[in-house]
Amino acid sequence: MDEPPVAGIARIAITGDGASTDVVARLSEELRLPIADNTSEKFDLLLAARADRLELRETRPGAPGAVYVDLLGCSPGEYRRRVGSRRQPIARAVGLPDDRPSVLDATAGLGRDAFRLAMLGCRVTAVERSPIVGALLRDGLRRAQAVPELDEIIAERLLLHVGDARWHLSSLAEDARPDVVYLDPMFPTVNGASALVKKEMRSFRLLVGDDDDAGELFNEARRVARRRVVVKRMPHTPLLGGEPDITFKGKIARYDVYLVQSAL
Ligand SMILES: C[S@@+](CC[C@H](N)C(=O)[O-])C[C@H]1O[C@@H](n2cnc3c(N)ncnc32)[C@H](O)[C@@H]1O
Repeated sequence: MDEPPVAGIARIAITGDGASTDVVARLSEELRLPIADNTSEKFDLLLAARADRLELRETRPGAPGAVYVDLLGCSPGEYRRRVGSRRQPIARAVGLPDDRPSVLDATAGLGRDAFRLAMLGCRVTAVERSPIVGALLRDGLRRAQAVPELDEIIAERLLLHVGDARWHLSSLAEDARPDVVYLDPMFPTVNGASALVKKEMRSFRLLVGDDDDAGELFNEARRVARRRVVVKRMPHTPLLGGEPDITFKGKIARYDVYLVQSAL
């Protein structure tokens, strides 16, 4: 399968806001984005290179705050206390605590789920097709690796690949097939989603679109996963595949699990 092009729906530019001109020029070339003034309103979105991080800003008046990758949001100890339980729904959905599966997160986004799974002990390959989201994620991983406790975990358990996961899955060698393929594609905005979810989704949707091809990704995931495919959905969003074999319900999301018959 040829790698499909990425659909972008916003006008976007890069802007320097504290980072050196070399960094801005390199990102502009890598991501093929024009360079703009950081007050420019000619674009819907600005990827701002600050001295300390990369962030995405909507330019329209009254837009929500910037989007950037913040994997921990607190100290490593506090993070473990909050999300470290190997009995939480996402952990059980991928097969923990009995197992330490290899997971291919085919919709990496801002990397929260991939990072959480790596912290729980899984070996994770995170695949993201938007080069701009990929750049945000790479920047967040680099900052997280400055925390000594996380450096080894990320280096050993979390690999980022920027490209389309359908293509990535279809080109994997037999011995590289993951135990679990994890999917969290964008979903249609539905009644019942919280205002915060709607607000975050708005900025993100502007950049990556609607993931209308999620059904194809699901089919490819089912073909390649050795043990199971896990689909994260919000409580009110429709099923992506057919009826799942198991569902684990969390406070914010549910995890639909499709078992691979030969692994049963
Ligand atoms: C809702 S976000 C995922 C959020 C992520 N689970 C997290 O914890 O931050 C969906 C992401 O999947 C990406 N995506 C959708 N289809 C993809 C595909 N076929 N290959 C790679 N990435 C894909 C989108 O570009 C978007 O960044």
